Amino acid sequence: MEYKCCALLTTALILVMLVNCNALRCARGPRCCAEGDAVPRVPPECASCHVLKANCCVEGAITDYFQINQFEKMFSNHDSLEVESHVNMAFWDYQSFITASAYFQPYGFGTTYINRKFTGTKEVAAFLAHVATKTSCVYNVTTKEPSASSLCHYKKTNSNSYYCDEQYKNTYPCTSGIAYYSRGALPIYWNYNYGEAGKELDVDLLNHPEYIEQNATLAFQVAIWRWMMPIKEHQPSAHEVIVDYWKPNKNDTLGKRVSGFGSTMNILYGDLVCGQGDNESMNNIIAHYLYYLDLMGANQEEIGPNEVLSCAKQVVFNPSSSSSP
Ligand SMILES: *[C@@H]1O[C@H](CO)[C@@H](O)[C@H](O)[C@H]1NC(C)=O
Ligand SMILES: *[C@@H]1O[C@H](CO)[C@@H](O)[C@H](O)[C@H]1NC(C)=O
Ligand SMILES: *[C@@H]1O[C@H](CO)[C@@H](O)[C@H](O)[C@H]1NC(C)=O
Ligand SMILES: *[C@@H]1O[C@H](CO)[C@@H](O)[C@H](O)[C@H]1NC(C)=O
Repeated sequence: MEYKCCALLTTALILVMLVNCNALRCARGPRCCAEGDAVPRVPPECASCHVLKANCCVEGAITDYFQINQFEKMFSNHDSLEVESHVNMAFWDYQSFITASAYFQPYGFGTTYINRKFTGTKEVAAFLAHVATKTSCVYNVTTKEPSASSLCHYKKTNSNSYYCDEQYKNTYPCTSGIAYYSRGALPIYWNYNYGEAGKELDVDLLNHPEYIEQNATLAFQVAIWRWMMPIKEHQPSAHEVIVDYWKPNKNDTLGKRVSGFGSTMNILYGDLVCGQGDNESMNNIIAHYLYYLDLMGANQEEIGPNEVLSCAKQVVFNPSSSSSP
């Protein structure tokens, strides 16, 4: 396990945040692209949290290879995908994404090299494919507006839950009357996730989760935080699998879980889309990813074989009967 210090905390709980182990901070290491500096040194306080692998490094910026015209094509309402996305472009704009990602780029978001192979294009395409499919919504032909909430956030519809876990009432107390359902560009739920993300980003999300609905930069930041963190026990982060930093163990191999795009779906949605064979939701997310890779000029070999791209045959990391997103 990468996050050794966290395992101690997690015994009784199914869903646990990495409260004492700031994986993000620890993942940040010195750059290691220079010749003769292939193995990054880990800051002493991070040594027990996160061991960076050899030949991993962080360099450059997302703006070096990803421009506004590409972003706007991705989120336009008349893209060439069969399943159309209708995303509120007044809210989700390029600059918000770039501003939000600037915070995470030093931790490797869109800037990671593994064995001198650049993974940024793949990662940005993958992240935005998830965002597009989670923030798209049914278009109301009468008003020409999205028919769900104005931002079309991903939202669990048939639940009255406040997503308040009382076990965290001291660390992350719930504000009365506030529900910690999913807000932002990717699904995050529960008071402790709002608390953790808020701590990392220095925003009082426990008292003001609505900030995420009002501020696209923050909505992207929370989503990228979700992307960079493992969130649940016994699973890597979406970041780690898309950059191929994660190494599957024996159970993973038995469960057909490999590093790559398929596992990002497994991490984010589990059995809602994975392990179901040829599932339409899964195919929709994959279609967005392939289209985005193409728009970003990625070459065919980045896509990889179907076992890497899809999660149709993967055993899920966390079945939804035992945990929630
Ligand atoms: C579309 O908007 C109109 C006008 O506000 C409303 O009456 C109708 O119920 C909406 N349709 C859907 C499917 O939400
Ligand atoms: C939106 O969020 C960003 C990032 O957290 C913050 O820097 C900015 O001040 C916020 N904007 C407003 C208008 O609150
Ligand atoms: C592998 O899976 C089995 C059965 O689900 C479990 O008991 C065991 O702890 C797992 N081992 C690892 C290394 O995750
Ligand atoms: C995809 O899987 C989910 C979860 O089992 C299911 O609700 C949905 O109907 C499936 N869709 C298709 C097209 O198989």
